[in-house]
Amino acid sequence: MLVVPVGARGALPSWLVDAADPVVDPGWLAGALADTGNGGRPGGITNLPVPGRRPRSVVAVGIGDGTPAEVRTCVSIAVRRGQTLAEHGATRLVVALDSAAGPAGPEQLRAAAEAAVLAGYRFRDSSAPHPPRLASVLLVASTADEGAVERGRVAGGSVAWARDLVATPPNTADPAWLADRAVGRLGELDHVRTTVLGPRQLRAGGFGGVLAVGGGSASAPRLVVAAYDPPGAGTAHVVLVGKGITFDTGGISVKTTAGMREMKTDMAGGAAVLAALDAAAALGLPVRVTAVVPFAENHLSGSAYRPGDVVTHVGGRTTEVRNTDAEGRMVLADALAHAHRELAATALVDVATLTGAAKTALGARTGALYATDDALADGLLAAGRAAGEPWWRMPLAEEHVAHLRAQLDSPVADANNAPGNPGATTAALFLQPFTGGLPWAHLDVAGPARAGADHGDTVKGGTGFAVRTLLRWLESGAPGGGTVPG
Ligand code: BES
Ligand code: MN
Ligand code: ZN
Repeated sequence: MLVVPVGARGALPSWLVDAADPVVDPGWLAGALADTGNGGRPGGITNLPVPGRRPRSVVAVGIGDGTPAEVRTCVSIAVRRGQTLAEHGATRLVVALDSAAGPAGPEQLRAAAEAAVLAGYRFRDSSAPHPPRLASVLLVASTADEGAVERGRVAGGSVAWARDLVATPPNTADPAWLADRAVGRLGELDHVRTTVLGPRQLRAGGFGGVLAVGGGSASAPRLVVAAYDPPGAGTAHVVLVGKGITFDTGGISVKTTAGMREMKTDMAGGAAVLAALDAAAALGLPVRVTAVVPFAENHLSGSAYRPGDVVTHVGGRTTEVRNTDAEGRMVLADALAHAHRELAATALVDVATLTGAAKTALGARTGALYATDDALADGLLAAGRAAGEPWWRMPLAEEHVAHLRAQLDSPVADANNAPGNPGATTAALFLQPFTGGLPWAHLDVAGPARAGADHGDTVKGGTGFAVRTLLRWLESGAPGGGTVPG
């Protein structure tokens, strides 16, 4: 299957218009586009029958003005159509990227490579034979920037890995299994050392939050620490912390059936930080970065933690449990404290499906970004724009939050874990004392970690949201300043 990109107002690429022996006649194509109302809007699609010649299928797909976001949409639509045609015998997809707007640049090539890898993503665990899939996707452009394509291919592969971890059902993906997956994949990479702490080591290290949350489950918790330390890296040491709740029943404060249904995805933040580290190491980025992921299942049983418990975290701060369903902050507290006390972090970024309130506020396609540092916030926002992952900065400045701090008070501990509305912001305020005053960003991905429908190169299910933002940010050298394209 061959894809011809259609520019704004139906403009055709010069390589087609000027060709001596075009694969489709441009005049005829212009007519077909007009007849089908395809004016080049990104994602608009027109099938063109090509009797008796190869390729058998030519498809015209809108690419608009050829911006990276429009290229991403165009290639994603093409890949999904190609996968449908694969069930009828197509094996190869060829996408021409130079459009009427001009030749594809590095950002377009990278977006195209990511979409080629990701738009046809699916996870299946069925007894029926899998339908046939495309064997290859070939991207054609006049300015072949191999590096940009490679960065896109690697980013796409890491995002797909994050999606696999999120999609794996929770009866398989327990804390030990996920820790093994991390050790297995990251162990292949140069300059990465992955260590896993089990219950005994967690007790020795004072991880009271992880042990409390994981205490109700028959599958004991694990802490994964994956350190990428390349030769020649500067002094900056970014620690990425991810929420790794392998299933969130709510615990004793049990969720409803509807509220629990998607809770195998409650480790999406953990998967995202492991995948970002995977990509950073695979690309050999010159920056020191460590991913810390507490994996635990929030279950109910006779050994489950309960409302009323007081838990002591790494470093000695205590929390009064008021709601066992506010478990993410309990495990993140330990991990953040560990990062600044034991790992000599210079900046902290956590990623978590932390609050339904973040999803209520921003919907399912925008991540909530909290930061104590404007340069850090700006770097991540710019990285998100370049990556095609939208973030919205939420307030953490004194004028917005000073009056909320009293909600965290507890008569018996340093704080309580269910401080009320605004829920996403009070969760951030709960975490802040565990960051040791380091520059810190908190990314609440409760909305965008999971998609209800296909859009762009995202397909229904776990999205891998935040992987590409973190990768772009690390690429930009942002831990020590620097800029991101876009
Ligand atoms: N994992 C949930 C948050 C969530 C909800 C993620 C919906 C994705 C979709 C989290 O552990 C949780 O239950 N949060 C509670 C906190 C409350 C009890 C303070 C919430 O948001 O209601
Ligand atoms: Mn919960
Ligand atoms: Zn949760």
